Amino acid sequence: MKRRHFIQISSLAVVASGTAYTLNRGLRFPSLGLELPELSSNFLDRDTNITHQDAILVRSDEQQMHFRANVPEPKFRLYANTARKLSFIVENLSTKAQLAVTGASTVNETISGLQRLVELDLTGGSEVLLQWDVPSTKNFRFAAIGDTGGGPELGWCIRRAAELGADFILHLGDLNYRPEDYDLARENLLNSPIPIYVSIGNHDYRDGGIYFHGRFRTLIGPLNSEFTLGGIRFLNIDTASDFFPASSGQRGKFIRRLQINKNIRDTIAFTHRPMADPRLGSAHDIGGGGQISWLASQLKRLNCTNLLAGHIHSKAEIDHEGIFNFIAGQGLAIEDIISEQSVAEILMGNITPNEMVQFHWAPLLMPFNYHRNLEDLSTQISPEKFARLKSILPG
Ligand SMILES: [Fe+2]
Repeated sequence: MKRRHFIQISSLAVVASGTAYTLNRGLRFPSLGLELPELSSNFLDRDTNITHQDAILVRSDEQQMHFRANVPEPKFRLYANTARKLSFIVENLSTKAQLAVTGASTVNETISGLQRLVELDLTGGSEVLLQWDVPSTKNFRFAAIGDTGGGPELGWCIRRAAELGADFILHLGDLNYRPEDYDLARENLLNSPIPIYVSIGNHDYRDGGIYFHGRFRTLIGPLNSEFTLGGIRFLNIDTASDFFPASSGQRGKFIRRLQINKNIRDTIAFTHRPMADPRLGSAHDIGGGGQISWLASQLKRLNCTNLLAGHIHSKAEIDHEGIFNFIAGQGLAIEDIISEQSVAEILMGNITPNEMVQFHWAPLLMPFNYHRNLEDLSTQISPEKFARLKSILPG
């Protein structure tokens, strides 16, 4: 083979393998970039191997390991090579969750709100399994809302969901609109009386040209996750970015791995962006490139016909490609300010034995002094009204 041909063929092979790698890993846009690397759910603390698939590691320092559960019934697996004492905190656990441990000689659990401090005596060369179970899951209720930001509006939505009897909240993304919002959101999540599972929003991923996905994944939760409670399966699906190809990235891998299970009688997907925008001339939906039809076909494969989403700061219900979209994006209750009366609503899901999930809307009733995000309204209300409201609202 001539040298020139060899170089041409080698170059084509490099380009082809690079393209195959890129398509397999997936591209995110905007702004264009490769899919994020997966975070490990396994690490070594001294000589103890810790597996935490159902929780993110928020912090690990000299003092204390700290995890945040992203499902109601998380499991941990520990393997200590030598005998030692080990303690860690798990946050975001229902006060009803009960711990079962196998393999440890001594276990002490201290409950403080939604946080559990677990102290263990580990025997060398033994495996320890910890699992929290929520008993009596035949009847329960959840709330779903998105687009709260991280400040007082989020605090109110949490309080209101608990008042309405929710056992947990599905947050539909965008708790980051301002530089201080991740810190405020953490504070609100830590003070919540009920667990919150958050789907990543576009502002949580990237805002004002700055990438925040690192903060999301180390403080709030994973990009995609699932859990089943009382025969109902919940799928947390990342629609913070567009993906190319539609089935690529961690989202594609996560969804393709899911199988139908005969013990699941209903499946609810929750995410940030809806499959369709019901407003004329507006396109706040999941996006093009075949993503919507791919996602719809995958949800139908999993017998999931209800998708809960935010992103649109309003309330709507729309059937699209056989998937019923509930849009619950009134977490800032902006429409309350525009109309100067309480109109915003929060979505509630009720679970009763042998039934599919029943949905209804409940008034959000956000007090006026909880509003903070007036800037969003500068183009929607008159300058006079904007100035008047700005003078009486905090922030
Ligand atoms: Fe959004």
